[in-house]
Amino acid sequence: TLLTSAAITACAFAASAQTVGFSQIGSESGWRAAETTLTRQQAEERGIDLRFSDAQQRQENQIAAIRSFVAQGVDAILLAPVVATGWDSVLEEAKEAEIPVVLLDRRVDSSDDLYLTAVGSDLVHEGSVAGQWLVDNKPEGTCRVVELQGTTGSSPAIDRATGFRNAIEGNADIEIVRSQTGDFTRTGGKEVMESFLQAEAGNEICALYAHNDDMALGAIQAIKEAGMDPGDDILIVSIDAVPDIFQAMADGDANATVELTPNMAGPAFDALEAYWADGTEPEKFIQTESKLYTQSDDPMAEYEARKDLGY
Ligand code: AHR
Repeated sequence: TLLTSAAITACAFAASAQTVGFSQIGSESGWRAAETTLTRQQAEERGIDLRFSDAQQRQENQIAAIRSFVAQGVDAILLAPVVATGWDSVLEEAKEAEIPVVLLDRRVDSSDDLYLTAVGSDLVHEGSVAGQWLVDNKPEGTCRVVELQGTTGSSPAIDRATGFRNAIEGNADIEIVRSQTGDFTRTGGKEVMESFLQAEAGNEICALYAHNDDMALGAIQAIKEAGMDPGDDILIVSIDAVPDIFQAMADGDANATVELTPNMAGPAFDALEAYWADGTEPEKFIQTESKLYTQSDDPMAEYEARKDLGY
């Protein structure tokens, strides 16, 4: 039988399509949703067959997904690890099966010879940028700060806490008075902020530092419901740069955010494609940018630029 050239091209493409398993954490935040959307888009554009697994925030689900990807014999695995510890055995299994693993956005405590590369931001630096913004913008006098931490045991929660503390160190008039996890969710941020406001009734809170925008957005709601003015009575600084935080900035309800690009898959697939082509080993860490945005950066333009990206 004669095949048209288009059919031959399609057959060749199908035969060469690489299969990648993606163990995603879940859908706790707008940022996470955008990362998932962009990973699917990037895979489709490159003709990669993406097998997606949603771990619903549970490490045991991620470990099971990785084992299943290994059993399926995929060509690579993308892992966004919910927490930093407890990955050695399953990463060794993938290595044994000669399946390269690329970490997305979060880090693990395991030895770096157990994965091909990690794509992500400098999470300590993000916290420092947020802290430095507060140092530069706090009102005169003592500034009592409350902190909404990310998921306990996750690398961004650990590192963003460290970076912020590094930046405010030496400023005796900035004090973190309360710190608790809001699990990176909007509802978590709202609930914990409500409890902070109750516990601090009668004491002035000068600023909120939230490890992501979704928790800040929940907290903004709680502050409004308590009859205060977020962005003014309580300064708000957070991380991610999701569209809704730009809307909040435009409304004067939030003050600053540090951008984390949701396009981790682009650099990850670039590295994998080079590796598949001729075994090129990427750097162990492929760093994405961490840019600060404030109310003076035309927040509505930033909102418009991001609103259709799957957040
Ligand atoms: O690991 C990145 C963090 O995870 C994002 O900042 C947060 O929104 C997400 O849940």
